[in-house]
Amino acid sequence: MRVARLAHETDFGGWREAARRLRAEGVAPDGVLWIVDGGGSLFAADAEPEAATAAGCVESRESVGFTVSRDFLGVAERAVLHRSEERFGLLYRLLWRLRREPRLMRDASDPDVWRAQALARDVNRAAHKMKAFVRFRSARDAAGEAFVAWFEPAHRVVEATAPFFARRFANMRFSILTPDVCVHWDLRSLSFTPGADPADAPRADALEDYWRTYYASIFNPARLKVDAMTKEMPKRYWRNLPEAALIPDLIANAQDQTRQMVAAPASKPARRIAGVPRAGAAAPSDDPPRSLEAVAAGVSGCRRCELWRDATQGVAGEGAGAARIMFVGEQPGDQEDLAGRPFVGPAGQLFDRALAQAGVPRDAAWITNAVKHFRHELQGKRRIHKTPSAGQVSACRWWLDAERALMRPKVIVALGATAALGVMGKAIPVGRLRGAPIVLADGAQGVVTWHPSYMLRLRDAAAKAAAFEGFVADLKMAWSLAA
Ligand code: URA
Repeated sequence: MRVARLAHETDFGGWREAARRLRAEGVAPDGVLWIVDGGGSLFAADAEPEAATAAGCVESRESVGFTVSRDFLGVAERAVLHRSEERFGLLYRLLWRLRREPRLMRDASDPDVWRAQALARDVNRAAHKMKAFVRFRSARDAAGEAFVAWFEPAHRVVEATAPFFARRFANMRFSILTPDVCVHWDLRSLSFTPGADPADAPRADALEDYWRTYYASIFNPARLKVDAMTKEMPKRYWRNLPEAALIPDLIANAQDQTRQMVAAPASKPARRIAGVPRAGAAAPSDDPPRSLEAVAAGVSGCRRCELWRDATQGVAGEGAGAARIMFVGEQPGDQEDLAGRPFVGPAGQLFDRALAQAGVPRDAAWITNAVKHFRHELQGKRRIHKTPSAGQVSACRWWLDAERALMRPKVIVALGATAALGVMGKAIPVGRLRGAPIVLADGAQGVVTWHPSYMLRLRDAAAKAAAFEGFVADLKMAWSLAA
C-alpha cells in the first residue's frame, strides 16, 4: 500500500502532484492510502507533504501519457472542499479510469462520476449558502469600525468564497470566523488564520431587532411552504441567523393566522373610505392654507391627484409647529395610512432609534412626507408599497411647500430620493447629495440622506450597520445645523 500525504484538508495542489506521480508509476487506486497531515489544518502544515513515492514529480503529458479534461478538473477542485473522507481516493480512481475512458466525465450514470459531481454540487451549494447567510455584527477596535461574523459552513468553502466577500464589502474591514479557518479583509488584502470558536465572535447587536421586526412583517403565513423554506434555509444554519429564532413561532402560528385571514371580512382598506372625506377634511381649494391645522384639513380632503381613492386617509405632518428642523419622508406606509400619522411602522421605529442615537428629540422636529397618501397595489389582501410617480410628488408639493412656508425651518432633511424630489423639485440620486448640506431656494439648509426603509431592506448585517451609522451621522450633522 502506498501512502500519499497531503498537507491539509483542502490541499488540491498536493493531491494533483501526488496523483500525477502515482499515476505515472502505475499505482492502482486501491493501492493508495490518502492521508491528511496536521490534523487537517492549513496552518499545521509547516513541512512539505511527504511524496507518495521517491520518484520525481511527473508533470508532462508524455510521462503521464494523457491529459485530463477541464470537466474533471472543475469537478475535482470543488469536490476536494467536501467534508467527505472518500474524496481524494474517489478523484484518484476517476483520474486512473480517465486514461482508458477519456469521455468518462460525460457519463453521469457512472457511479464514480455521479458521486464526484454530487460532492461538487454540495460544495457549490455550501458556498452559495455562505454568501447568503453570513451575518456580520458591528465590532470596534483600535483601528475603528469593523465587522465580524461567525459562520459554520457545511463544507470547506471559506477560502474559495472569501474573494466574493472582499469584492462585495470592499470598503469594510471584516473578519469571518469559522471552525475551519478565519478570513480577514483589511481593505487591501485577504488573510487567513486558524479556525476559531463561536465565543470569539461579538454578541448580538441591537440592529438585529429591527431586522427581526422587518422579517416578521414580510412573512406571509398564507404562502408558507415549510419544505421549500427549510430547503432554502437549511436548519444547520439557523443557529447563526438572527431571524431564525422567529421561524418556529411563525410556522406554528401560520395556520391559525391564515384561518383568521380567510375568516376575516374582505378588507380592502381603499374601499373603506373611497370618496368619503374624513371628519375635519376641508373641501378642495386653491387658496394656500394659512395654518398647519389648515394643511391637515386640506390633506384630508385633497383631490390633487388620484391617490386619495385607494388610501384610508391623508397623512399630514406632525410635530413641533415651530420646529427648526423638518424631516421629509416619501409617503405614508401601510401602518401610517391606517394610523393617520407619519413614521409609526417599521421604518418609523428604525427612524426613531436613529433620531435617539443622533440626539434629536422627535417632538422637537416636524415630520412629514413628500406625498401624503399611501400609494400601493393589492396582492391578495396585502397592500404592497409602490413608489409615487413624479407627477404625484409634484401634485403633493402644494402641501409640502405650504408646510415649509408656514414653518420656515432652518434645516430640511430629505429621507431618500422621493423626498429629495419633493424638497428640491428635481430628481437627484441620494448618493450624489449625501454628506454635505446645500442651500435651498427658500434659504433653508437641505440635507439629503437615506430613507429608513433602505436600511430595513438591506439583508446583510454589515451593510445595514454601516448604512445605519452613516444615517445617524447625517441626522447629527443636520441637527447641529439647526442649532
Ligand atoms: N415611510 C415614509 O416615507 N413615511 C412614512 O411616514 C412611513 C414610511
